[in-house]
Amino acid sequence: MRTVYAPLMAAATNHTPPRKVVIPAAGLGTRFLPATKAVPKELFPVVDTPAMQYIVEEAVRAGLTDVLVVTGRGKEAIADHFDRAPELEATLLAKGDHGRLEAVMRSADMADVHFVRQGAPRGLGHAVLCSAPYVGSEPFAVMLGDDLIDVRDPLLSTMLEVQGAYGGCVVALLEVPRNQISRYGCVAASRTHDDSVVRITDMVEKPDPDAAPSNLAIIGRYVLSARVFDALRETEPGSGGEIQLTDALKSLVAAGEPMHGVVFRGRRYDTGDRGDYLRAVVRLACDREDIGPGFRRWLEDFVAGRA
Ligand code: UTP
Repeated sequence: MRTVYAPLMAAATNHTPPRKVVIPAAGLGTRFLPATKAVPKELFPVVDTPAMQYIVEEAVRAGLTDVLVVTGRGKEAIADHFDRAPELEATLLAKGDHGRLEAVMRSADMADVHFVRQGAPRGLGHAVLCSAPYVGSEPFAVMLGDDLIDVRDPLLSTMLEVQGAYGGCVVALLEVPRNQISRYGCVAASRTHDDSVVRITDMVEKPDPDAAPSNLAIIGRYVLSARVFDALRETEPGSGGEIQLTDALKSLVAAGEPMHGVVFRGRRYDTGDRGDYLRAVVRLACDREDIGPGFRRWLEDFVAGRA
């Protein structure tokens, strides 16, 4: 990616790179009830780390340390997780447990995490609109609070490079089986010189498989221009009665905004979906140096019916 886009980036003048990232985390998490009645799904542990911490770590690796989390009622624990915990830190320090002390402090120190409340869960587009006063007029990233991208398969940093090259907006895309496209936003797109980047010509939220323009589904990473806020202000409730980000992006494309998609071929988990959440926990546990070997042995025995 770096070599492909370097000449284009050099040619781009007056490009303001995104510095801020918005993480919408105000959804009700109904697919995971009753667990989400009192506990935000964004804090569900993937092994021993809340799902959302992986997302903030991904932002930091891509160079974005100014984070705004959009929360809602019952999500206060998210702020606690990204804050200092003086009593806990003092106890761990007194015990000489430096490993855990470092882990506890890391979530508070790794980024500047700010919060805004959505008020009522009126949809992803509305959650993004709540970030407008904070974001201002510069381009920014959006990372969904329940969409976990494997650390070994960088996505956001690639999207930032593509946005630097083409300007406008960039969305992350996943090729899905046709019969699953109705769960996602979907794009119509044409090829570019790079087989992992497409130029988007239209979008539709949750299409019928028969009417879908492609099998390219929008997943939870976006790099957006601030023009999306004007589009969102004009967007009426759409699929599910919610204000859909896809509908606002569709109107931006129609108005001539450059819109590209990065086709992601790595490992990704929707931790708001029970099956995907379990796959994320098992995969990441198997890959861990500390608990991985023992867990794998148990898993092999379990699958073979010996455990
Ligand atoms: P999802 O549709 O995956 O989340 O939204 P949800 O609405 O919580 O899930 P279910 O379908 O009821 O199980 C994608 C992202 O957008 C956020 C969610 O928190 C999630 O990170 N979101 C969604 C908001 O912040 N506000 C909303 O009004 C809706």
